[in-house]
Amino acid sequence: MKSLLELQDIYLNYKTENSLVEVIKGVNLKINSGENVAVVGKSGSGKTSLIMLIAGLEKATSGKIIFEDQDISAYSEDELADLRKRKIGIVFQSFYLIPNYTALENVSLVLEINKIENAQKKSAELLEQFGLKDRLNHFPSQLSGGEQQRVAIARSIILSPKLILADEPSGNLDSENSKLIINLLFKYSKQNNSSLILVTHDQSIAKECDKIIEIKDGKII
Ligand SMILES: Nc1ncnc2c1ncn2[C@@H]1O[C@H](COP(=O)(O)OP(=O)(O)OP(=O)(O)O)[C@@H](O)[C@H]1O
Ligand SMILES: [Mg+2]
Repeated sequence: MKSLLELQDIYLNYKTENSLVEVIKGVNLKINSGENVAVVGKSGSGKTSLIMLIAGLEKATSGKIIFEDQDISAYSEDELADLRKRKIGIVFQSFYLIPNYTALENVSLVLEINKIENAQKKSAELLEQFGLKDRLNHFPSQLSGGEQQRVAIARSIILSPKLILADEPSGNLDSENSKLIINLLFKYSKQNNSSLILVTHDQSIAKECDKIIEIKDGKII
């Protein structure tokens, strides 16, 4: 299998006013194309920080991040933003949908920004596959939490990213909705041969992934 992402001896320190917090302490990690990886660990262990590093939303204090054979740790902010747009889909626990846009508009906006044709039609098709056929013209406030999260996931994957980063995507949902969301992520990463990095507290979900990474105190154990 081809390596998609590699973290080489990554450290991350956060500077606060009067202290230095060492959050990630020497992480090495390799993820192949199409691989599903669960990230588990106690609260405060550094899971979200790891996702932020991989997404290029935090800069490592030291170490290298290689994405598709490119050293992205040397990328500028603009280059990272461009990479995220083209190759990486990010799903957070909170949905951040645009409140005055409908479900359909929240998804199609991504395609329109990227000047892709038939934005509405493509977005509607994906939302229909996500079981939201009858919710296309609803605003976020008119959707349940699970429905909002499905819209958010559709928006994150509408450009078929090579890497999907999901930080407790079902953290706010009941177990039924949670399963539905995770299954959608599994199904779509498989269909596109995308890799999925999934932060989860749920052992049964973690067990369904190809690999489980446990983080303790900023290190992989
Ligand atoms: N911007 C920041 N400045 C300073 N410290 C931070 C910052 N962000 C996170 N931290 C600290 O880094 C550590 C790791 O945080 P992180 O959010 O990665 O944990 P986590 O494993 O995602 O936890 P949880 O399961 O609760 O989401 C914590 O001790 C946190 O307080
Ligand atoms: Mg977290």
